[in-house]
Amino acid sequence: MKVIFPEDETIEAAARLLKQGRLVAFPTETVYGLGADASNPEAVQKIFHAKGRPADHPLIVHIQSIDNLTDWALTVPDFALRLAERFWPGPLALILNKKPEVPIEVTGGQHTVALRIPNHPVALRLLQAFGGGIAAPSANRFCRISPTQASHVLEELGDAVDLILDGGPCQVGVESTVIDFSGKKPALLRPGQITQLEIEDFLQTQLTTNPESTIRAPGMMAVHYAPSTPALLCHANELNTILHDFIGQDKRVGILTYHQRISKTHLIHVISMPMQAHDYAQALYAALREMDRLRPDIIVVEKPPVTESWLAINDRLAKATRPYQPS
Ligand code: TXA
Ligand code: MG
Repeated sequence: MKVIFPEDETIEAAARLLKQGRLVAFPTETVYGLGADASNPEAVQKIFHAKGRPADHPLIVHIQSIDNLTDWALTVPDFALRLAERFWPGPLALILNKKPEVPIEVTGGQHTVALRIPNHPVALRLLQAFGGGIAAPSANRFCRISPTQASHVLEELGDAVDLILDGGPCQVGVESTVIDFSGKKPALLRPGQITQLEIEDFLQTQLTTNPESTIRAPGMMAVHYAPSTPALLCHANELNTILHDFIGQDKRVGILTYHQRISKTHLIHVISMPMQAHDYAQALYAALREMDRLRPDIIVVEKPPVTESWLAINDRLAKATRPYQPS
């Protein structure tokens, strides 16, 4: 499929909609975002309404340049600035103490704000045309799988969004790494493609994974990113037993395999996932969505490796599934 990126006029029209307080979905390198003018509380409230998301869940503000950090953040610690300079535009969100004028609708009532510059040409053009911060969570309904293609956004939100900009399939495929700089020690709140080790190596300091704040944020909830079909996570050596059990009960099974060869039958759908972490992440949400569409009785995911580059994937899989427990 060929994706034709939006023309300048379309980007301008999208920026105008944002200025009018309307909602525009746009591609980023991680997942599609559901955007609104971050300085307009009424516009931001529409995001929560469209997603069905509780109002106390904070949003990420997408900005155009590092110079805009101080439009939103009260102070920018040296470590945070160095990460921004190293990884932006890119799949990294920084949590900083917010300026008083940042609407609490954006921050879910917190005194902190999440900021990032996305690495996608369409997102960057939109930010430039708009000229302000765009608050955007992933463009899915609350607790569902994040969209990695424009068609997924349409499936999720339909008419609740005023315009969807199509920028093709997302290259990263899982949400950004979130680092909180508002406490005493920098804390990893959500793993992503940029790994904890990479950040620790670069800053020459350790990140804590036990943040001081215990706010409720979607990426931190136990059930999230979930397909509608019940999903199990299992080890390769458990796959055959599980299949045998379900097929014995005449149940239809959808399998996301990592390296096992499983034959398709009328009761078994199989999606073979890529062997490289980067490619696996890119394909993961579309695969879960596809499985949901096929409406099996159960989705079974074969656990991929657990090394550093697979951490974000394992984090999302743990939230999308429950572990298989042999009876
Ligand atoms: O890759 C991404 O980050 C995508 C694209 C669209 O940029 N956005 C995204 O947004 O995943 P959302 O709303 O689905 O997730 C935002 C995450 C929350 O799970 C939460 O952990 C964190 O960002 N977050 C945002 N503001 C925060 C705050 N003030 N304090 C703590 N965590 C915050
Ligand atoms: Mg989300």
